[in-house]
Amino acid sequence: MHYSDNRPAILKYDPFKAIISPRPIGWIGSVNSDGVANLAPYSFFAALSSRPNMIVFSSDGAKHSYVNAKTKREFTFSLATEELKHAMNMSSANLPESESEFEAAGLTAAPGISVGVPFVAESPAALECVVVSAEEITDRYGVLTNRYFVIGEVVRTHIRDEYINAEGRFDLTKARPIARLGYRDYATVKDVWELDRPEGFSDILKA
Ligand SMILES: Cc1cc2nc3c(=O)[nH]c(=O)nc-3n(C[C@H](O)[C@H](O)[C@H](O)COP(=O)(O)O)c2cc1C
Repeated sequence: MHYSDNRPAILKYDPFKAIISPRPIGWIGSVNSDGVANLAPYSFFAALSSRPNMIVFSSDGAKHSYVNAKTKREFTFSLATEELKHAMNMSSANLPESESEFEAAGLTAAPGISVGVPFVAESPAALECVVVSAEEITDRYGVLTNRYFVIGEVVRTHIRDEYINAEGRFDLTKARPIARLGYRDYATVKDVWELDRPEGFSDILKA
């Protein structure tokens, strides 16, 4: 099977998000112009580069996280984990601008150090970011799509000490991050395995 714009009837739902799986969840903290802290999950989210460390999320319509990040030029990322899955889900509720999802989801808003935006204190890891780009996305014809992306440069990294293992690595098997799949499905990262790069490259890459 293959198709372009018209999906065959046998595919009840667009499988795009199931094919691009798993997607890490960008649990985005932001602050609105009245100073109210906002929190929402975004699975159109990715690490974009390292050194400088950059992350990107995208919004289907100009949602609060996008507007706040574009206006304040700052946002935070908190790692969504299996333990925090219900709070993560609750934070996706469409609350009025005057209400904070941190409070509604029963989470503690830890103040940012380099940015004036809080992150989830209960999360094993969080990133403070400065916005480098926040724009509406155009399609291949240059037509605006009402989809918006935000790229942020990481200016501070938080890791709770108990999640750093004896090898000095962030302990993913302890943190158990969750990822978004297609439909209503999620996955938990718990099966971690290593693979060396091809001979000759590995020493350079490890340096
Ligand atoms: C796991 C998960 C992932 C989501 N990913 C996205 C996304 O990538 N883009 C989007 O626009 N909305 C996404 N949503 C929905 C938003 O979280 C929801 O619309 C939220 O109310 C937006 O909040 P805000 O207006 O405070 O930014 C997702 C929801 C969940 C539960």
